[in-house]
Amino acid sequence: MASLHIPCTTTATTPSSATRPSSRHHFAKPSHLITHAKRNNRLQISCSDSQKQKDSSQNADTPQGNVDRRNVLLGFGGLCGAANLISTHTASANPVQAPQIDKCGVATNLNTGKQLDINCCPPMGKNIIDFKPPPLVQMRTRPSAHRVSAEYMFKYNTAIDRMKRLPKDDPRSFMQQANIHCAYCNGAYDQPGQGTLDLQVHNSWLFFPFHRWYLYFYERILGKLIGDPTFALPFWNWDNPKGMTIPPMFVDPKAAIYDAKRNPANMPPAVVDLGLTGNKDPLQVVSNNLTVMYSEMVRANSDIYDFMGKPYREGTLVNPGPGASERGSHVAIHVFVGDPREPSGEDLGNFYSAGRDPLFYCHHANVDRMWTLWQYFLPNNKLIDKKITDPDYLNASFLFYDENAQLVRVTVKDCLDNTKLGYDFERVDLPWLDYRPPPQTAQAKVMRTVSTTRKADAVFPLKLDGIARVLIQKTKKGKADELLVIEDITVDTSKFLKFDVFVNDEDDNVGELDKAAYAGTYAQVPHKTNEKTATTTIRLKLTELYDDMDVTEDDTVLVTLVPRHEGEGVTIGGIKIIENPTPAKTS
Ligand code: C2O
Repeated sequence: MASLHIPCTTTATTPSSATRPSSRHHFAKPSHLITHAKRNNRLQISCSDSQKQKDSSQNADTPQGNVDRRNVLLGFGGLCGAANLISTHTASANPVQAPQIDKCGVATNLNTGKQLDINCCPPMGKNIIDFKPPPLVQMRTRPSAHRVSAEYMFKYNTAIDRMKRLPKDDPRSFMQQANIHCAYCNGAYDQPGQGTLDLQVHNSWLFFPFHRWYLYFYERILGKLIGDPTFALPFWNWDNPKGMTIPPMFVDPKAAIYDAKRNPANMPPAVVDLGLTGNKDPLQVVSNNLTVMYSEMVRANSDIYDFMGKPYREGTLVNPGPGASERGSHVAIHVFVGDPREPSGEDLGNFYSAGRDPLFYCHHANVDRMWTLWQYFLPNNKLIDKKITDPDYLNASFLFYDENAQLVRVTVKDCLDNTKLGYDFERVDLPWLDYRPPPQTAQAKVMRTVSTTRKADAVFPLKLDGIARVLIQKTKKGKADELLVIEDITVDTSKFLKFDVFVNDEDDNVGELDKAAYAGTYAQVPHKTNEKTATTTIRLKLTELYDDMDVTEDDTVLVTLVPRHEGEGVTIGGIKIIENPTPAKTS
């Protein structure tokens, strides 16, 4: 009997016994690997050798119509990873510095296959001042866009209209404001002092702070244009069923906040599809949406970086890794609204053009709200340390023109508390807060015998051109505090792409996310990076998923990756399960 001997001697932080089930099963069992197969045994795993492996996948019945059997990859991956833990969170360099406006160059859109150069540089500013919060007279309350009054809509449209009428070279004008996003996201700026290394505010811990500042100044400019310092941007409450359509005020073609470059198929009453599964049943889509929200806000994050995104410091290559919210609901809305008739999904479907649609700021007001909710309002997360104290985060800086067309340098540390910037959000329900998928019943389990296993390197790197299934070793048998690590996800940055991750999925209905087996998502909006590809790693917390699925006897799990868009633009370097290095504090 072939013995699978995977050393799991752990060198990482030893968790307290209070948070971790005690187990002596540090070694995988040599054979009789128990996995959760499909009820009807359509999925056969026989991994005795590569030929058998091939036969097995060729004989695997198609689990459902849209799964091509050639794409069902079976393998056994997952080295016990605790010793391989690489902490990306401790290294210190310098914070990313605000760009030099005088060095702003062309921005690039690579989405069309050919390079499209765009000038989105701001006008030169004479002197730069450091941000000082203006005295707080009255809190600006951002309203839910589906609930605003006619009076509010009038004010908002008037403000946008005036913004559109400002001289073209006024840094507060509509296109200049839109171009801020283009410049910071499509390679117009290099990191100061770092040669030609791009400055990029997405796919890292700068995502939330940058967009918070961007909206802050946008809102202040609009308020100034209508002489109302209490004016606040609306937020698109896409996380609530009542807000799961494009807010009606944006679809009036005569309104200043209208934009013609949107997907006509997704106009109201089309329900937003945060899971981008393409499921056509609106009730199912609402349920998927709430599941996505629950997953990215509550279930899948083991530490603050899983939510905020990975560290991005001076000299870091762009794209260190997006947080759960950025790569989930945030990307989905960009793609839902962007117009597929346009060459690059303009406007919202591509970063260089996203700021040209007023709906962008309404979308991002809700993204910003998610950050606030995560920081202050989620009881489920209260055991996670939510403060990043790293000076490379706190001192990262950006430049914006304020409501007086004054160039201002801002830092991350000054935007951590939205109320200190003078705004808050209308309180609405959080229907996803307890939207935990129902536990999966145990009867569906099928035992299969695996005589030997394939090494992970026989499967990886794995091009995600179809649904892929890989058997992964757990660090210990049964319910443990573990993270699923999808490593070295190499993506073509010029493409919109997405895949979902399921663990021990029993029913293979990939159009439904509201089930215990759904573990999380990776997605991106096309953008520019120095290289045409970017590589990142995501971690998905499995603790609650194990509670909702019967894994008591298991020392492996079956991981299913479901590409939703442009899977051929994604290569997965490896998958492993590690112990949670940051177990929740218990007091
Ligand atoms: Cu800067 Cu939603 O993108």
